[in-house]
Amino acid sequence: MILNETYELNNGVKIPKVGLGTWFIKDKDASEAVRNAVKTGYRLIDTAEAYANEKGIGEGIRTCGIPRAELFVTTKILAEAKTYGEAKQCIEGSLHDLNLDYIDLMIIHAPQPWKQWRDKKERYFAENLQVWKALEDAYEAGKLKAIGVSNFLIDDLQNILDHCRVKPAVNQVLNHVGNVPKELIEFCQKKDVLVESYAPLGHGKLMKNEEIEAIAAQHHVTVAQVCMRFDVQMGTVAIPKAGSVDHMKENAAIDFELSADEMERLANVRFKGYGMMKVMPVFSGRE
Ligand SMILES: NC(=O)c1ccc[n+]([C@@H]2O[C@H](COP(=O)([O-])OP(=O)(O)OC[C@H]3O[C@@H](n4cnc5c(N)ncnc54)[C@H](OP(=O)(O)O)[C@@H]3O)[C@@H](O)[C@H]2O)c1
Repeated sequence: MILNETYELNNGVKIPKVGLGTWFIKDKDASEAVRNAVKTGYRLIDTAEAYANEKGIGEGIRTCGIPRAELFVTTKILAEAKTYGEAKQCIEGSLHDLNLDYIDLMIIHAPQPWKQWRDKKERYFAENLQVWKALEDAYEAGKLKAIGVSNFLIDDLQNILDHCRVKPAVNQVLNHVGNVPKELIEFCQKKDVLVESYAPLGHGKLMKNEEIEAIAAQHHVTVAQVCMRFDVQMGTVAIPKAGSVDHMKENAAIDFELSADEMERLANVRFKGYGMMKVMPVFSGRE
């Protein structure tokens, strides 16, 4: 079962291949969502300070009945925190709100503050090195088991690689059927930085797609399962958000194999866009 499978990060820490995304899960619902996910077999939970649900997520982790050491919690430093002091505050704040002794993986949410998403001039290279230093210090103090980045482009990541004491373990990026940042993924894989795919279901906008439906029918699985399998078969972690236990179960039942030809067809699926969600920087299409 895929939920029992792991990758090894570049520091030797193991990370599950599939986890639960929690963006848009309200704090009051988060502990139950975690308990449901854990009961279903999930061991990786992905949250962020920006999701405003860390308290509920932490409560779910503490009350799910599974030893803490068997669970993997990821959270993120605010995209707007771009000094050493602000980053340190985010790390301490997440540890406090999650109410956990350590965090398995903490990543920089984005290379630029959201309002400047993909601004070509203000790249925050120097600032991200300060944020990275705060992550390195917390990692060396044992508060974080692994550290990484999210939404970093090749030059954002190269900047960290050129100056770091501790290499980034992951880059969490938008990657799903019909929208594959091939060059970035190849760069990360060459540098031994594991790619985590967020929005593996295209934020739910891939469900009615004839090309994916045809492949799903061949394998007697659902469109969501094809999308999940696609990301995992690329060697990336997939973190779908699911509000119901049925969706959680469905997204993890992906023990089938896509052929090389199907993988190619899926990478080139015509994706019709995120609809109203394109107001969010990560879904804006700005590169
Ligand atoms: N680092 C970043 O900047 C960043 C950005 C975006 C997302 N993320 C992370 O990645 C996670 C996943 O991304 P996402 O939430 O944007 O999108 P997603 O996981 O691609 O899609 C979630 C949507 O798909 C629906 N869904 C789930 N399973 C389904 C199934 N089996 N059949 C039909 N519909 C299904 C969900 O509905 P229900 O809720 O009704 O199940 C929800 O509406 C986030 O929650 C977050 O943890 C990170």
